[in-house]
Amino acid sequence: MPLPFKHLTSTKQLTRVDTEEILRVAAEMQTVRTKGKSDLLKGKVLASLFYEPSTRTRLSFETAMLRLGGDVLTAEGIQFSSLYKGETIEDTMEMVGQYADIIAMRHPDQGSAEKAASASKVPFINAGDGPGQHPTQALLDLYTINDEMGKVDSLKIAMVGDLRYGRTVHSLSYLLGLYNNISFTLISPQELTMPEKVTSFFKEKNISYEEHDDIAAGLDADILYMTRVQQERFADKSEYERLKLKYILSAKHLKDKKVTVMHPLPRVGEISTDVDALPNAAYFRQAGNGVPVRMALLAMLLGKA
Ligand code: NCD
Repeated sequence: MPLPFKHLTSTKQLTRVDTEEILRVAAEMQTVRTKGKSDLLKGKVLASLFYEPSTRTRLSFETAMLRLGGDVLTAEGIQFSSLYKGETIEDTMEMVGQYADIIAMRHPDQGSAEKAASASKVPFINAGDGPGQHPTQALLDLYTINDEMGKVDSLKIAMVGDLRYGRTVHSLSYLLGLYNNISFTLISPQELTMPEKVTSFFKEKNISYEEHDDIAAGLDADILYMTRVQQERFADKSEYERLKLKYILSAKHLKDKKVTVMHPLPRVGEISTDVDALPNAAYFRQAGNGVPVRMALLAMLLGKA
């Protein structure tokens, strides 16, 4: 079934049917990936435009395209691009669309993805727009939850850390809102609580959520989704220094706990390395799931799945 949209900028545009179809194709891609290389996207070119730092997202988009037999063009760092010279995002899209068949872009400004999509003649994927959205991360998070737990409905999800600026928790909240009987425990310092755009969505959909500032509130959930305090969004660096390590999850918190620990990565101290060897730790498997999920999205948006 083809997706009913050309561009992916936000998880708010997804229905449960779309989401389940993406997860289904991603599971097939996992098999394709273990078998080696496919030529499904042979002759197609991905432009990978990362105007903000990225390792996992960029590499997993690029390897996804290469594993499907496609090719990749890369641009990194705003200072090396025409945007830095004052080119508008719309003009950049017009131009890149002449070179590539599909575009993935990360940009520091919230809203940049919508602007880019509205100007793009080829399928466009948001790979993170400032503190806005990161829909492909949310889809790989959902794929991971389903894979680790065997279901998504009726789970208790605790989200910890920088809920204000963390785009991954925004996108994932909307996506989980498509499932039944999910409840959220939102754990953050006062300064970094979940934005109103998300809590009003919870209220509108009658989704149960509680706000706390102690990590203990999340240790009996099904999923404990840790996040990094987003240093790059702070105008006041002393404020960042004060808040950065409010939550440090270590093995002693997880003694006798079944909760599955996720993190979009990179971690910068908020999960100690003594958690890595515990069965609770799912974050490296989660990062690996970025490949089949992005393979699925590239193939589906190019009409080849
Ligand atoms: C996240 C991002 O860039 O929003 N990382 C990622 O895509 N894996 C989270 C982060 O940078 O903290």
